[in-house]
Amino acid sequence: MAQILPSIFGADIMHLQDDINFLEEENTQILHVDLMDGNFVSNIAFGPNQIAEMKKNSTMIFDVHMMVKHPKDHIDDVLATGAEMISVHYESTPHIHSILQKIRQAGRKAGVVINPGTSEVVLEYLLNDIDYILIMTINPGQPGQSFIPKSLEKIRNTKQLIGDRKIDIEVDGGVNIEIAEKCVKAGAELIVVGGALFSGDKQAQYQLLKEAVK
Ligand code: DX5
Ligand code: ZN
Repeated sequence: MAQILPSIFGADIMHLQDDINFLEEENTQILHVDLMDGNFVSNIAFGPNQIAEMKKNSTMIFDVHMMVKHPKDHIDDVLATGAEMISVHYESTPHIHSILQKIRQAGRKAGVVINPGTSEVVLEYLLNDIDYILIMTINPGQPGQSFIPKSLEKIRNTKQLIGDRKIDIEVDGGVNIEIAEKCVKAGAELIVVGGALFSGDKQAQYQLLKEAVK
């Protein structure tokens, strides 16, 4: 069954604890946490120390989305946060296979992320080494962008590529209520939502988003 993964990058930094409490009260299972290095993407966000602190104060599963140029240099620190799910961009390293292996060897779920300009075909030789595929539905790094419509075709193609394997498809970027429903119909199970959840009436929005992915 599909579920909404709130993206903490979309929360109110001045009231982070309130937003985390809200998500816990809403029985959120998985929290999506962006890690940006100002290099792979221009933005800079939550470092391992901040993630570890949030993790200590939460019961949610943490899904860390690494947007860094040298993932090998950061993976130990990310593992030390206790995050249960860690995803790495295919485009960020020539050694994607070895880093995914390292995540799994540490007993965590390993995800590979592909940018809008990257074909799902590159995933073929990674299928035995991953638990989930994160399809970026915007260009990573900046909030407030529009969902790229061609992503729906990519979700369907990825679903075919996965076949019977136990691999989930996650989508991230520009997802609102209507788009969430389309992504689920196309085959996605993990639906990341930032702006569309945290702006406006959070409780009402969350309810509508949950219903849209049922
Ligand atoms: C963007 C991040 C997303 C971001 C999504 O690079 O990876 O997780 O928070 O925000 P929305 O849903 O507002 O596009
Ligand atoms: Zn993300």
